[in-house]
Amino acid sequence: MIQLVRGFRDILPGEIERWQEIEKTAVSLFENFGFKEIRIPILERTELFARSIGEDTDIVEKEMYTFADRKGELITLRPEATASIVRSYIQHKTYAKDPVQKLYTIGPMFRRERPQKGRYRQFYQIDVEVLGDESAYVDALLIFMLVTLFERLLVKDVSTHINSLGCSKCRPDFKAALSEFINSKSAALCSDCNRRKDRNPLRVLDCKVPKCREAMKDAPSILDSLDSDCQKHFDDLKQSLEDLNIPYIIDKSLVRGLDYYTRTIFEIQSRYEGAQNAICGGGRYDNLMKTLGGPDLPATGFAIGFDRLAEISGLQSTDLVKRPDVFIAALGEKSISKALKWSCRMALEGIYAELDMSGRSLKALMKRADRMGAGYVLIIGEQELMDGSAVLRNMKTKEQESIGIEGIVENLKKVLLK
Ligand code: HAM
Repeated sequence: MIQLVRGFRDILPGEIERWQEIEKTAVSLFENFGFKEIRIPILERTELFARSIGEDTDIVEKEMYTFADRKGELITLRPEATASIVRSYIQHKTYAKDPVQKLYTIGPMFRRERPQKGRYRQFYQIDVEVLGDESAYVDALLIFMLVTLFERLLVKDVSTHINSLGCSKCRPDFKAALSEFINSKSAALCSDCNRRKDRNPLRVLDCKVPKCREAMKDAPSILDSLDSDCQKHFDDLKQSLEDLNIPYIIDKSLVRGLDYYTRTIFEIQSRYEGAQNAICGGGRYDNLMKTLGGPDLPATGFAIGFDRLAEISGLQSTDLVKRPDVFIAALGEKSISKALKWSCRMALEGIYAELDMSGRSLKALMKRADRMGAGYVLIIGEQELMDGSAVLRNMKTKEQESIGIEGIVENLKKVLLK
């Protein structure tokens, strides 16, 4: 028996309805805000992720599915979507048409993390990006859209955490202060932190190892080092969130696990998910475009962990499962072949008619219709065919009526749409 690869999973009917509803709700909301879908490849050159996410991050150091293809080129299963969207924007010179692009994509990402509840090696993201706009109002709008989506999906007990990481002008001063602090604590830090601290001290702030967290709890905050432009940007964000009635928490310890961020960063965290409490993460990456060889244009965005969102959404899959409008219990070969035509026509007319072709007994068919939650059962056998009328049973009221076979689709529509 061949089993799934560890950290990978199937999303089965019964669960998938919730995913479909989430996706429908998200897409309709994003489109009302003018976002357009983009589909990007699952595979990219490894270098794209290494340069975007950062060589010193856990993702690039330890978690990517990277391999050499048959010609020896290093390629990687995408661990996230932002880098590819930026690559596409640069490659197709989309900015020449209109620098401001509002895009979303939904699909699988791959990270070789230690699997546990809420953490998979293939997981799904709902990713949203705004390219070419540096305004703090865009960040606020993204957060508003997110919070609205979570409300529509009946998500409870989440909080919005925000922070600023400053820009390339104010960060060097902060990095210097942080490095000094880290060096005074190096004995208490894990080996990853000690290895990364000189090249990339911000990574130490993001370390999840408890002893590192403890050692770093009084670390200097970048919020004390913001220059006046970054301070204004952060103040504008806070003010806009207040204007939009979005409660937020300023979280000085928030740094995010990817290197490309500048200025605004944010996370939506859930109270229920334990260690995997980040349902969504995002922020600005004003330098990434340039780093990847494109124009010097700003950008911002977020990605929702679809798997985690599906778990905490209050939507009930059982309410979303599509039930047959009518279940056709056809008894005998002749009835089945007639009913096949009817069920095909009904599907074209927008009626879901489940036709059981197994040839089993009426009792077995009635049981199945009941299990599937059919609204009506249409019973058709040799006798009914001869009489020219079938029996239609209302599964709720248990009332039965006879329905003419001549023009049966129209006859059924009249009853079903009553
Ligand atoms: P991220 O924080 O790495 O950001 O991932 C975003 C979300 O994906 C997380 O908050 C989490 O819900 C989900 N996630 C991450 N890893 C896993 C996993 N192994 N299993 C299940 N869910 C997971 C990014 O990926 C950025 N690209 C977000 C972004 C877009 N920033 C700007 N634009």
